[in-house]
Amino acid sequence: MAASDAAVSSSRPSAPSLYTIDAESAAETSRLIVQDQLLTQAMGGLLAELTAEEVRSVRRVLDIGCGPGGWALALAAAYPSMEVVGFDISETMIRYATAQARVHGLTNVSFMVMDARQPLAFQDASFDLINARWIFAFMDQESWRSLIAECWRLLPPGGLLRLSEPEITVTNSPAFQTLMGHFYAALARLKRTFSVDGRSCGVPSLLGKLLQDAGFVSIRKIPYVIDGSYGTEMYAISVKDAEVALALTKPFLLRFASLSEAEFDALYERMLIEMLSEEHVGLCYALTVCGCKPNGRQAGQPAVSCDCQRGQ
Ligand SMILES: C[S@@+](CC[C@H](N)C(=O)[O-])C[C@H]1O[C@@H](n2cnc3c(N)ncnc32)[C@H](O)[C@@H]1O
Repeated sequence: MAASDAAVSSSRPSAPSLYTIDAESAAETSRLIVQDQLLTQAMGGLLAELTAEEVRSVRRVLDIGCGPGGWALALAAAYPSMEVVGFDISETMIRYATAQARVHGLTNVSFMVMDARQPLAFQDASFDLINARWIFAFMDQESWRSLIAECWRLLPPGGLLRLSEPEITVTNSPAFQTLMGHFYAALARLKRTFSVDGRSCGVPSLLGKLLQDAGFVSIRKIPYVIDGSYGTEMYAISVKDAEVALALTKPFLLRFASLSEAEFDALYERMLIEMLSEEHVGLCYALTVCGCKPNGRQAGQPAVSCDCQRGQ
């Protein structure tokens, strides 16, 4: 079965995206192409949290909010036996990802436009592993619960759900920290986070509980950090990422943060200068949370060989 056969119909986005950046922007597409490498490296690889046996048992994979497809394409190339499907709300990114699959001759990966905040157009138990990385910027409290419920439906017993989100960026650049503060506060004001004080993203810390509430078991939490401090391997990419991401987030901040355009422009300019300093320190703390859908048929022997369940 081709991976795309799992889709029962196309699901065109019916509502405007809540994403904090214009998802059709070419600049955002190219930012995410680079950010993908940064994240996969910081996470220690494509599936660093899974045991070798778990990886071997995975055949069908869904990547939610796949962006330009970097993770899904790399997974399909590394594991030819897997069938990978990625979806995103952005037609621009899906066009790019599809072209990349063609150029690299990857026939075991496909991409489609779909809205993660709506019911997903796949049949029950279509995937062994569902991945979603850094999707917090278009989710709200209710969408997290409904998306996790959809993932439960799409997984067979023993299937794995893997969610990975950033909690907070901590930097010694006062301007960068102030801009991030405005961003977190705006998300909290819009109830797009679980943070009670609006001082961080407030999503990763709650993911384990959300998975548990939905019925997932053997929940693993694996922290990672993206160190974009001066002199680190990730410094240049991190500075560029902050430069582009904040420029593209400007319309969102002007609309939803307590910040005038002049204040934003002054902070942005200072941030760029401060990040060039040899003293610059900037770290983003993030968490990957994996949960296993329990096997109702035979405890301890899931359909997908799920080591996490064996640990019960
Ligand atoms: C920060 S990017 C993460 C991309 C990818 N997961 C990665 O790790 O490289 C967030 C992605 O969510 C997509 N997005 C925004 N709103 C969405 C929605 N409602 N449904 C699906 N994807 C959405 C954006 O287009 C963007 O590609």
